[in-house]
Amino acid sequence: MFFDLIDFSDLALADWEQLLELGFDICENPAAYRERLKGRILANLFYEPSTRTNLSFQAAMQRLGGGVIGFSGTSATSVSKGESLKDTVKIVSNYADAVVIRHPSEGAAYAASIYSKLPVINAGDGGHLHPTQTMVDLFAISKLKSKKMTGLAIGVCGDLLYGRTVHSLLRAFSLYKDNTFYLISTPALQTPEYFLSELKKRNEIIMAETIEECIDKLDIIYMTRIQRERFENEDDCNAQIGIYVLDKNKLKKAKDDLAILHPLPKNDEIFAEIDDDPRAKYFYQAELGMYIRMALLIKILENPKPRVSAAAQNTGKKCQNATCITKTEKALPNIAKTSGGKTICAYCENEI
Ligand code: NCD
Repeated sequence: MFFDLIDFSDLALADWEQLLELGFDICENPAAYRERLKGRILANLFYEPSTRTNLSFQAAMQRLGGGVIGFSGTSATSVSKGESLKDTVKIVSNYADAVVIRHPSEGAAYAASIYSKLPVINAGDGGHLHPTQTMVDLFAISKLKSKKMTGLAIGVCGDLLYGRTVHSLLRAFSLYKDNTFYLISTPALQTPEYFLSELKKRNEIIMAETIEECIDKLDIIYMTRIQRERFENEDDCNAQIGIYVLDKNKLKKAKDDLAILHPLPKNDEIFAEIDDDPRAKYFYQAELGMYIRMALLIKILENPKPRVSAAAQNTGKKCQNATCITKTEKALPNIAKTSGGKTICAYCENEI
């Protein structure tokens, strides 16, 4: 069992299946869980904007009888006076029972776990990972496809380079086998290889340039927005807008039981006319988010397991990724791990 949830890979299949079963049960019978975390406090530290993740964590904790503290944006906190992540996390550790953190720097949640005596849940670290959105996505797929998680054809479309929900989702699917993934993106926004290496071992990956070339084969299409806030320059971002758009015309060739998913917020990649199509499941997907986060909070807060630190070595070498948390948190040790024969930063996973 896990202590923190930084990466979906912190979970074994058995952990995830237990969580999923609990999610199903809570969804059927939420009243039975009303007092389950009575007296416990969750700290929600949102350094970046959020609607669903922040509010569904708050609702989840309150529906379990617990309380929530935290912030949404840093302007009213001491972060705006220059306080480090280390100091903020150390202080909050005294007030709550678990910490949820969303931060613009890659590796921030892992960094927070180094300083926190409490369990840390990653609610999005820059363009890196977003494991609790993946729980929502897998829960939705499991509900919509009658718990069938193999033999599916899944299209993942849009910003596969910076889309952290995509990275976590692809990693999570390495727990399952015999699925076919159509990765639909421009060459500039393809998924970094290190999110695919485990998935490839038991699943097929097909690179696609258009939605049209694969829409008729898909059981699921997972649309994503272009992550404007992660681009270094505006022109590069603008060049990617409007390339992948799901409209009624493209859906004509799709299966009747296609599930259209999107982590939300959506921009122009899904026409509003699709919202009323019975295959559009993204609002339902978001609704499920609260229940699976209730399951996660119960698992993490009841009988927390001892923290097992990741096998990382002090290298003395600095990570060169400009958006890595080590760029702003000067006190962090320069630690690395090995993956696929390469030395990668323990925080953001970029090659060192
Ligand atoms: C996503 C995120 O923050 O990464 N939103 C969410 O949590 N549901 C997706 C996005 O912002 O595009």
